Amino acid sequence: MDFQKRILVTGGAGFIGSHVVRLFVNKYPHYKIINLDKLTYAGNLANLKDLENSPNYEFTKVDIVDAEAVQEAFEKFQITDVIHLAAESHVDRSITNPTEFVMTNVIGTVNLLNSAKFYWKDAMEGKRFYHVSTDEVYGSLGNEGMFEETTAYDPHSPYSASKASSDHFVRAYHDTFGLPMVISNCSNNYGSFQFPEKLIPLFIHNIQNKKALPVYGKGENVRDWLWVEDHARAIDVIFHQAKTGSTYNIGGHNEWKNIDLIKVLCKIMDKKLGRAAGESEELISYVKDRAGHDLRYAIDSSKLQRDLGWKPSLQFEEGLEKTVDWYLTNTEWLNNVTSGDYKKYYENQYTKR
Ligand code: NAD
Ligand code: TYD
Repeated sequence: MDFQKRILVTGGAGFIGSHVVRLFVNKYPHYKIINLDKLTYAGNLANLKDLENSPNYEFTKVDIVDAEAVQEAFEKFQITDVIHLAAESHVDRSITNPTEFVMTNVIGTVNLLNSAKFYWKDAMEGKRFYHVSTDEVYGSLGNEGMFEETTAYDPHSPYSASKASSDHFVRAYHDTFGLPMVISNCSNNYGSFQFPEKLIPLFIHNIQNKKALPVYGKGENVRDWLWVEDHARAIDVIFHQAKTGSTYNIGGHNEWKNIDLIKVLCKIMDKKLGRAAGESEELISYVKDRAGHDLRYAIDSSKLQRDLGWKPSLQFEEGLEKTVDWYLTNTEWLNNVTSGDYKKYYENQYTKR
C-alpha cells in the first residue's frame, strides 16, 4: 500500500510514545507508523500488543545513539516525518547517571536531526520533525506565575539540562538548515503504561503491596498533572496544525502539592482495595529530599487552547481513578516490569535514603 506519510515515532514502546503510536495507527490508516525504540528498561512491546497485526504499524529496534543505525532506518522506511519521544526520562536516574542522559537525549537527538537533514535536504516541503519536550526545561517556579512559551530556559537537573540542550539543537537546525521542526513542552503525565518509578504508578504499586510511600522532603513540591491520552491528542493536533518553527506548551491547569495528591490517591486505593479509611495514609514516610528538587511547575497552555482548539478532556480525580483501575487490573504487566532489574533499582534508590 502507498502510504501518505511514513512517520518515525521514536520511543514508541515507552509510556507516552505507546499512547501516541496507538492514536496515530488507529486514527490514520493512510499513514505508516514506524516505532523506533531501543527497548530500555522503560520500553516494553507489551504496551502495544493490540497493534501487533495492524497493517500500518511496524517496530524496529534501534538505539538512537547509533548514528549509522538511525540513518539506515531513515533510508529503509523512507521516513517523511518524525515524532521524537525517545529519551531517558527519570530525574532520579539522571542524578545517578547523568552521562547516559547526555548520550540518549542530546547525542541521540542530534543523530536524528542529522538524518532528517540529510534525507530531506532537497525536499523539506511538507516534512515535519516534531520534538517532544518537557516543562522542566523552564526550571522551577516560586508560589506565583506559570511557564509560558517565552519563559527563559533554566534547567536544574541533569535530565532537564539534557532536554533543554536537545530543544536548543532542534531550534538551531531550523534556524541554520531550515529543518521543518515543531516543539512542545508538556507538564507531568499520568495514566496507563507508566513505568512504576514515577510518583503515581510507584505509589499505587506500593500501596497495593503495603510498602512505605517515600515522600521526598516535606511533600510540598507542586506538579501540574495531565492525562497521558490528552497529551497524545495535543501531539496529534500540533503535528497536523502548528506552524513550522513554533513551540507549544501543553498542560491541564491542574496543580497539586505532592502530599495532597498522595492523600487523594490513598483514599481512592482504600476504597478500591476494601481497606479501612486512612489505612493507606499510614504508609506515608517522609524521606531525604531529591537533590536540586524543583519546587513548582505550572504550565500556561492558553496558546494551544486558543490557536489550535485543544483542551484537556478529563478531570484529575476521574483520571486518577481510571489509572488506579488500570494498574489494579493489569497485574501481569506490572509484575513483568517490576521483576528483574527493577528490584536492584529500587534498593539503590530507596534503601539508602
Ligand atoms: P519513558 O521513559 O516511559 O519512555 C522512553 C522510551 O524511549 C522507552 O521506550 C525507551 O526504550 C526509549 N529509549 C530510551 N533510550 C533510547 C535510545 N537510546 N534509543 C532508542 N530508544 C530509547 O518516557 P516517557 O515518560 O514516555 O517520555 C517520553 C518523552 O516525553 C520524553 O522525551 C520525555 O522527556 C517527554 N516528556 C515526558 C513527560 C512525563 O511526564 N513522562 C512529560 C513531558 C515530556
Ligand atoms: P516524578 O514522577 O519523578 O516526576 P518529576 O520529577 O519529573 O516531576 O516525581 C513527581 C514528584 O514526586 C516530584 O516532586 C518528586 C516526587 N517524588 C516523591 O516524593 N517520591 C518518589 O518516590 C518519587 C519517584 C517522586
